[in-house]
Amino acid sequence: MQTMLGIIGGSGVYQIDGLESAAWTRVATPWGQPSDEILTGRLGGLPLAFLPRHGRGHVLDPASVPYRANIDALKRLGCTDILAVSAVGSLREDFAPGDFVLVDQFIDRSTRRPPSFFGPGLVAHVSLADPTCPRLGALVARAAREAGLTLHAGATYLSMEGPQFSTRAESRMYRAWGAEVIGMTGMSEARLAREAELCYASLAMVTDYDCWHESHGAVDVAGVVAVVQANAAAARGLVARLPALLDPDRPACPQGCDHALTHALMTAPER
Ligand code: ADE
Repeated sequence: MQTMLGIIGGSGVYQIDGLESAAWTRVATPWGQPSDEILTGRLGGLPLAFLPRHGRGHVLDPASVPYRANIDALKRLGCTDILAVSAVGSLREDFAPGDFVLVDQFIDRSTRRPPSFFGPGLVAHVSLADPTCPRLGALVARAAREAGLTLHAGATYLSMEGPQFSTRAESRMYRAWGAEVIGMTGMSEARLAREAELCYASLAMVTDYDCWHESHGAVDVAGVVAVVQANAAAARGLVARLPALLDPDRPACPQGCDHALTHALMTAPER
């Protein structure tokens, strides 16, 4: 199978530098329209598809992002691997604004997101014990090092509902739970990517210290946007290095992301 990389962007990755034969494509899915048209092309010879998570112009709030349509559309285009880039608040002193974090665990506190592609009539229970792909994650970490980013590899992401930022009590509680970064979209994508049998990695850009930190004020959008703008080029530098690291003839995923449904379907095939 040919490798195709899907990028779900945010956080300064609003375009893909150097994309050849680039074209915006409308993709219809049974789950409705994705967040926007999808930019397809080739980067360093590798087929790539880019989807702006919140739509061009950032018009969709985290609860309105059509997560199922987004994952399904990338799968329909032929993506085998997805790198999701997002902005997060830090729940750790040593994860500073401007640093990048390779997320490998999630705690879900969202309440209004479509939880699954499956449901009544076709029941499936995939494993989310390790919700991200270690092989893709390792390549992202290598690309980050080559691009000169400060990367913390391995972290737990608290996926909150929003759109408001957390209260101080919540922020302190999430730290006590062991969460290390906080954002509003991560878990909603990761769970669906696993059901779609896609390898999924989550690269988070730290934009603030959330509100638990005594010497930093409350989070505000202006501060988040300023950090995103200052570090956008670094994020794009990482993306530019990925195609050279991915094997174009995709070998089977060692963790089994690409056959996650094999032992997950509960519904009898014939009733
Ligand atoms: N995205 C960026 N910073 C955030 C924060 N502090 N909380 C939730 N989402 C965020």
